Amino acid sequence: MIRLENVAKSYDGKTMVIQDINLEIKKGEFFVLLGPSGCGKSTLLRMIAGLEKITQGDLWIDGQHANDLLPKERNLSMVFQNYALFPHMTVRDNILFGLDARKVDRQEQEERLGKVAEIMGLAEYLGRKPGQLSGGQRQRVALARSICSQTPICLMDEPLSNLDAKLRGQMRSEIRRIQRMLGLTIVYVTHDQVEAMTMGDRIMVLNGGHVQQVGEPLEVYNNPENLQVATFIGMPQMNVFRAQTEEEGLRMNGSLLLRSRSGRTIRLPGQEFEAGIRAEHFSQTGGDADYVLEAEAAMVEYTGDETQISFADGQGYSVVKWPGQVPVRAGEKLELGVDAEHLYFFDRETGRRLRQGGGEGQ
Ligand SMILES: Nc1ncnc2c1ncn2[C@@H]1O[C@H](COP(=O)(O)OP(=O)(O)OP(=O)(O)O)[C@@H](O)[C@H]1O
Ligand SMILES: [Mg+2]
Repeated sequence: MIRLENVAKSYDGKTMVIQDINLEIKKGEFFVLLGPSGCGKSTLLRMIAGLEKITQGDLWIDGQHANDLLPKERNLSMVFQNYALFPHMTVRDNILFGLDARKVDRQEQEERLGKVAEIMGLAEYLGRKPGQLSGGQRQRVALARSICSQTPICLMDEPLSNLDAKLRGQMRSEIRRIQRMLGLTIVYVTHDQVEAMTMGDRIMVLNGGHVQQVGEPLEVYNNPENLQVATFIGMPQMNVFRAQTEEEGLRMNGSLLLRSRSGRTIRLPGQEFEAGIRAEHFSQTGGDADYVLEAEAAMVEYTGDETQISFADGQGYSVVKWPGQVPVRAGEKLELGVDAEHLYFFDRETGRRLRQGGGEGQ
C-alpha cells in the first residue's frame, strides 16, 4: 500500500533529519512510528502526506510513484499533531469537510456523522465552533473528520496526546476497532510506547532519523535489536548494568554479583558489555532460577495490582516488578532469581544486541 525506498529528508540541504528509510506498509495494516521527540516521526508522516518534499529516495502509494503527487491526489486523510480545524466552521462542518467535493451524498454523510459523533462523544457539540471546545474535544473532531472521510489511508500524528488517561484508553480501542471494521491502513505517530504496543500491528522505532527496528509489538519487546529499543519500550524501563564475566557469574556495575547456579559461564565476544534485565523478570526467590542476585530493598511501591521494589545497584537504582501486593519492607534482603533466557546483552560501544555464542538465541 505504501512503500518507501531509501527515503531521506533534509530541511536545510546539509543535515539529514531522516536517513535511508526502507519500508513497506501493507493494506489494512495499523503501522506505528514510535520514537522520542525530534526523531523525525512527523517529518516522515508529512512526506507520505505530500506536505514535505522528499529530499532523496522514492515513495509509492498503491503502486503509484507518489513523490510528486499533490496531497489531494494521494487519497488519504491526515490528523495533525496540532489538529488543524477551520475556526469559522462548526464541528459538524469540520467533520464533514471534503465529503461534498468527493461527491458523497447527503444521506450517507449524515449516517457517517451520526456514528462517528457518537463514538467520539461529540454528538452534543456539533453546532459549536472549535474555539468553544477543549483541546481534547478539538482533537476528537480532527479524528472524526479523518474517520468520516473513509479514505483508504489515514495518517495520524499523535492524535490522542491531548486527552486524559481514561479517554485516551477508550479512544485507543475505538480507533483500533474502526480501523479493523473499515479495513483502513493507518500510519500512526506516537512517542508513547504503550499506545504503540497496544494499537500497532507493527511498530517502527526511530531514533535520530534512523530506523532502529521494525516488528510486531511483542517481537520488538522480547527481542530488541539494540539498547535504545530495549530501554525505550517497556515500563519501567529495562534495568541496565555494566557487566563483566567472572568465574562465578556476572559482576554488575563493579559491585553486585549475578551468581550462576549451574556453574555455566556466559560466553560473549569480549568481557565487558551491558547487561539488561526487565523488572518483571526477577523472580521472588532464587528458587530454581539459573542466576541469583542478592539485593536490599530500598523502596517499595504498591499500585494496588502490582508491587515495585527498587534496590541500589552500585550505579543508581534498579527496579523489580511483581504482580499483586507482595509484603516487602525497605531494608529487607532479597534473593532475586533470573533465568538465562531473560538476560539481554549489548555491546558497550554500539549498543548492538549481543548473543551468546555469537549466533541466534541465547
Ligand atoms: N520545517 C522545519 N525546518 C527545519 N527543521 C525542521 C522542520 N521541521 C522539523 N525540523 C527538525 O527535524 C527534526 C525532526 O522533527 P519532527 O517534527 O519530524 O520530529 P518528531 O519526531 O515529530 O518530534 P515530536 O515528537 O516532538 O513531534 C527535528 O530536529 C526538527 O527540529
Ligand atoms: Mg511530531
